[in-house]
Amino acid sequence: MTHDIDRTRMRDLMRREFDRFEQDHPRSRELFERAKANLLAGVPMPWMSEWAGPYPVFVAEARGARFIDVDGREYVDLCLGDTGSMTGHGPKEAVDAIAEQAARGITLMLPTEDAAWVGAELQRRFGLPFWQFCLTATDANRFTIRLARAITARPKILVFNYCYHGSVDETIVTIEDGVPGARVGNVGAPVDPTETTRVVEFNDVDALEAALAHEDVACVLAEPALTNIGIVLPEPGFHDALRTLTREHGTYLVIDETHTICAGPGGATRAWGLDPDFLTVGKPLASGVPAACYGMTAQVAERTDAFMRSMPTTDVGGIGGTLSGNALSLAAMRATLEHVLTDSAFERMIALGERWADGVSAAIREHDLPWEVQRIGCRAEYWFTPTPPRTGGDAAAADDHELARFTHLYALNRGILLTPFHNMALMSPATTEAEVDAHSTVFDEMAAELTG
Ligand SMILES: Cc1ncc(COP(=O)(O)O)c(C=O)c1O
Repeated sequence: MTHDIDRTRMRDLMRREFDRFEQDHPRSRELFERAKANLLAGVPMPWMSEWAGPYPVFVAEARGARFIDVDGREYVDLCLGDTGSMTGHGPKEAVDAIAEQAARGITLMLPTEDAAWVGAELQRRFGLPFWQFCLTATDANRFTIRLARAITARPKILVFNYCYHGSVDETIVTIEDGVPGARVGNVGAPVDPTETTRVVEFNDVDALEAALAHEDVACVLAEPALTNIGIVLPEPGFHDALRTLTREHGTYLVIDETHTICAGPGGATRAWGLDPDFLTVGKPLASGVPAACYGMTAQVAERTDAFMRSMPTTDVGGIGGTLSGNALSLAAMRATLEHVLTDSAFERMIALGERWADGVSAAIREHDLPWEVQRIGCRAEYWFTPTPPRTGGDAAAADDHELARFTHLYALNRGILLTPFHNMALMSPATTEAEVDAHSTVFDEMAAELTG
């Protein structure tokens, strides 16, 4: 037998958790009230107001896989800056390199030797030979889209329903009741995104083929698996079809590895043998210092280079960023790739991801909940569904915001931070088995209380 969640019980428990949070976090509340005087909604960015408690925890300091808040409480950080700190906080080799480079010059508009080293290492990991650097994965995607449009002279891109690739105008689009349109919450869209974008469901090869048949799509921008609406894995043969169809229709394939870097040192591209034309990745590459990059094949690089050379200047053409490719980012990236996100670190992290998934699965079975766990490498999360969603639309429909808030706040009140917006946990090189087991224990207690 499986339990339907008793909502009355859950809401009673949630009230208790809210009270506990407020008792435990007086200093965070004080700072939140103070910040409201000058920050919209009292936070540096709007999404920071969407944590499960009545206000966010303010951080005093973070080290390794843990942080301490301003009330002196310590947490195991399984959110890790939603991948930005997948390296763990402040890994020594990266901190040393950052400090040294900061003292020797942060940004110059000139290249440093680290750029060449990092380019070669990215080729070793991802297979693509040519690279450019920027500050965020959003920018990597924006610039790549521009290049794909430029060299194909095609107007549109294609994305999968409920994808997320950063705050990229062309991608903030979903299908509702079969009709594509601006995604709910799309702020001030410059144009109706259906003018720029075709959108189909992940794993729907027929819809993909029909959309590409218009031959107006410059590139498909895809994560190897959807990760931002929960983990939605590709079905067998989906990536082969995606690659074959994009080639058949003269459309470039851009693989965004920003989250799926969790699959291993070369992301899912290497782990699953993908063969993209462009690859984008950001977030943890420089241990939390803003840094991102986009790579391309030799054929794409040749066309891109020829296109760029045909322009009178590349300075004001929409691909840029004064601080892009700065010396500090590149020094941090080099140290991170050389010493932190190493092949052996990934082996440990992935084993911890398995351990976390096993712990949660055991509790789900023990308490007879109709839930399940999905995992890619060192990233794992639980779904409130008995079978995994196969499309972004299914995944969005399975969202249970109220229940997720409860499970998150329950964990937070017991010293464990999960990633907001989905039920995700990430392992860093600094994470320990004991920290993973601490979550399993708390999850088991939560499930016991929820099911009575
Ligand atoms: C797959 C993917 N690509 C790109 C981005 C954008 O990253 P950033 O916000 O660092 O620009 C995100 C952010 O969550 C992401 O999940």
